[in-house]
Amino acid sequence: MNPKLFDAAVIACNKVAKETFCLTLKSDLIAKHARAGQFVNVSVPREADILWRRPFSIHRVDPQKSTFDLLFSVVGKGTHILSQLAPPMTLDVLGPLGNHFEYPNDKNRLLIVAGGLGVAPFFKVLQEVAHRDLTIDFVYGVSSADYFCFLSEITSYCNLILATDDGSKGVKGTVINALETLSHIQKDDTRVLVCGPNPMLRAVQTYCQQHQLDAFVSVENTMACGFGACMGCPVPMKNPPNEGKQYYLACKDGPVFDMSEIIVDE
Ligand SMILES: Cc1cc2nc3c(=O)[nH]c(=O)nc-3n(C[C@H](O)[C@H](O)[C@H](O)COP(=O)(O)OP(=O)(O)OC[C@H]3O[C@@H](n4cnc5c(N)ncnc54)[C@H](O)[C@@H]3O)c2cc1C
Ligand code: FES
Repeated sequence: MNPKLFDAAVIACNKVAKETFCLTLKSDLIAKHARAGQFVNVSVPREADILWRRPFSIHRVDPQKSTFDLLFSVVGKGTHILSQLAPPMTLDVLGPLGNHFEYPNDKNRLLIVAGGLGVAPFFKVLQEVAHRDLTIDFVYGVSSADYFCFLSEITSYCNLILATDDGSKGVKGTVINALETLSHIQKDDTRVLVCGPNPMLRAVQTYCQQHQLDAFVSVENTMACGFGACMGCPVPMKNPPNEGKQYYLACKDGPVFDMSEIIVDE
């Protein structure tokens, strides 16, 4: 589906966890046609000095209401302004952009590993696989319990394993500590889907290599255009050809990559 530029009506923007907001926007196009892992690039309203659009994963969709949600944390000026949106405002949106997660027929287990706001694309994954006969383990790590959101909703779909750096809920430690509590993961029947900050991605990449797990990651590089024109979102290839391209573009070739094919930046 080709991306489109459109004005999306703001339906609601609610705080759902510490520094974390869920923004609901109206769009029949995204609600009916976007896939899990795809993203939209939004223009931050009002502030002339914010030049580039800001990219956000499509968090979940409601095809009946023709709406979709973005789940984001406030990290800077753009996300601060987005957190204050309310009806009847509209937002200038470009999307859906990028590729998407896939679920191969020969795997009957999904292992989702989410760190912080890396949880955002996985609600759409859960919506997409709800009709499939898959066993799903969902490992979700944050720094402290205040940052968790929508836990009961995740539990309604799958087996949820939590981790917090400070031990305030779930396993004390990182998602790797949580993964080590799972004894039933079999390399041949499991597809791993990962999203989170780069230090976590590197640790999960090593874990998946050691356990020979088939893993796909959604990267969250800094981006500008969002559609392959500015070359501003390079992702180094792990095994580049001797000549030619040494980088993928996160926005165009991704954001979802086979984890064994990329180098995750420091
Ligand atoms: C494909 C994709 C999907 C994304 N999905 C989500 C999502 O679902 N939810 C969400 O909260 N965020 C997501 N992000 C990150 C989000 O785009 C940034 O947090 C946002 O652009 C920051 O804008 P700002 O103006 O508030 O911050 P800025 O003022 O631009 O930056 C503030 C701080 O945030 C850091 N930062 C900026 N962009 C990123 C980034 N892409 N990754 C990590 N750190 C960054 C900056 O280095 C700086 O330290 C996604 C990024 C990509 C590329
Ligand atoms: S953001 Fe412009 S090429 Fe990827």
